[in-house]
Amino acid sequence: MGKTEDPVTYEVVDAIAWVRFNRPDKRNAMNPDLNRKMMEVLDALEFRGDVGVLVLSGEGAAWSAGMDLKEYFRETEVRGQGAVRQAQRESYGWWRRLRWYQKPTIAMVNGWCFGGGYGPLFACDLAVAADEAQFALSEINWGILPGGGATKVVVDLLSMRDAMYHALTGELIDGKKAAAWKLVNESVPLEQLKERVTEIARILLSKNPVALKATKDAIRRVAEMTYDNAEDYLVRAQEAANFHDDGGRKEGIRQFIDEKSYKPGLGAYDK
Ligand code: ACO
Repeated sequence: MGKTEDPVTYEVVDAIAWVRFNRPDKRNAMNPDLNRKMMEVLDALEFRGDVGVLVLSGEGAAWSAGMDLKEYFRETEVRGQGAVRQAQRESYGWWRRLRWYQKPTIAMVNGWCFGGGYGPLFACDLAVAADEAQFALSEINWGILPGGGATKVVVDLLSMRDAMYHALTGELIDGKKAAAWKLVNESVPLEQLKERVTEIARILLSKNPVALKATKDAIRRVAEMTYDNAEDYLVRAQEAANFHDDGGRKEGIRQFIDEKSYKPGLGAYDK
């Protein structure tokens, strides 16, 4: 659950883990404390049987104002290269963990999202923003390039022209434009954000969890493969999934063909 002063808090409600950046006074900027705490929280939730989906949002007006310029950069840099590398390992580490998380993940972008925030944004499988949310690669505004994967994120998700404009100008875009650019799946008015994310989470909760993990990994992995390599990977990935859940797909076929209790074209089988 976490104490109110923790930089990350969470609660589990009806199989959804609501994880929140919790430094609202600092617009949820990611400092080393927050990065360490987030890894602990991800550890604690990943294999809990009562968690099916993880949602990452922010307390207050921000999703995350990116890296903490004081604590992550300035105060770490004065302690030397070892400290810098450690801070990078800690932040990149939980983002990587989130990219390959066991459960499907949704970024619920309730407000400001800057720079380093694009790491966890991309790490989440799906992203839904408030129309009112504001995004920017603001690195250029304080004199650096978008590091920590942020450049890679926009190149992977946006057109080259939009990525270039976004990174070179540091201009804000709102949730609607972020959705049009495909930085997020969709945007809705802030007052409907939690309801819409809950609705998507419930869709995911109705699916076979082994198939969800295999599918989310496959989407990320095949992006970098040739067609033939992808074809081969997907055969092997499904056979590995069968090892963890041999009965699921057979039951899915049985309920459709024998029981005629559902139609896969219209929804999920009864787990
Ligand atoms: N790093 C450190 N402290 C921050 C950060 C940050 N990224 N963002 C906000 N804060 C702190 C402010 O210094 C301020 O602290 P204080 O109360 O001790 O003075 C507090 O959070 C509130 O911030 P304000 O600027 O007063 O809040 P406001 O609502 O007016 O503005 C905004 C919000 C636009 C997000 C502004 O805080 C801002 O520009 N933050 C920096 C955004 C940014 O460029 N982040 C870095 C991206 S690059 C990267 O991550 C590698």
